[in-house]
Amino acid sequence: MQTFKLRSGEEIPAIGFGTWKLADGSEAVRSVQHALESGYRLIDTAAHYGNEASIGKAVNKAEFGRSEVWVTTKLWSDDLGYDSALEACDASLERLGLDYVDVYLIHWPANQRRRDAWKALVELKKTGKARHIGVSNFTPQHLEELKTVSEVVPEVNQIELHPFIYQEQKDIVEYCREHQIMVQSYSPLGSGELLDNKILEQIAASYNKTPAQVLIRWALHHETIPLPRSSNPQRIAENIDVFDFQLYEEDMRRLDTVNKTHRTVTDPHVIP
Ligand code: A2P
Repeated sequence: MQTFKLRSGEEIPAIGFGTWKLADGSEAVRSVQHALESGYRLIDTAAHYGNEASIGKAVNKAEFGRSEVWVTTKLWSDDLGYDSALEACDASLERLGLDYVDVYLIHWPANQRRRDAWKALVELKKTGKARHIGVSNFTPQHLEELKTVSEVVPEVNQIELHPFIYQEQKDIVEYCREHQIMVQSYSPLGSGELLDNKILEQIAASYNKTPAQVLIRWALHHETIPLPRSSNPQRIAENIDVFDFQLYEEDMRRLDTVNKTHRTVTDPHVIP
């Protein structure tokens, strides 16, 4: 598995498995088990997804040691604030059946209580309940604001990212690169809705790869960590089988400037 370096120098898996919309229960446990068997070593969940118990079950059942897999979860907006964030993290750990998470993120900048929540995350890192801390859906404006709260800079910012939204999210990607904040890309396949885009299909055919594999490769070339979701064992394996080809510069440029906009969730730029 390829890795990227966090600001601290620690290596993090270059691809993760997304679990948004995987309903808690046997399907989620099975999907995460398939992902681990296929080679994924980073599993991304959130309190709000309602499936932490299943994700924890699959991770705890794995044959390899806990330290070999990264588990990310996120603080939901209702729990922003200092005490509520500390309590929410404990509740997530309880549901996951884990002593610590590898990455704990503020899920959305939602409201001003994000400031106290960030102080709580700094504390969670100190106590070891979260090995790494960061945010999700934060724009440069939200990230600048955090500088007034603590000198601790997020290690990760998880955002919606794929070619069909790249131009709108580019400011975030560039800010994060300048500040050594690792970008994780959720919905790297554009939620699977634009895989039949003609330019994408053409490029994929020229490499003898699938459109999904090209999108994942695109995210890696931008040095972001894609978090593709799937509940289908073949597609789970297909989405990590991307280390035997490179995209040419010209194809990267074509994908960067593909003339189509598609956003799966709220634009964080509108959150004050
Ligand atoms: P499924 O679970 O049936 O595989 P994203 O990761 O951008 O959020 O996209 C997830 C969506 O894309 C899901 O609906 C998933 O459906 C679908 N998907 C995941 N991998 C592939 C793939 N390799 N080819 C086609 N569709 C895929």
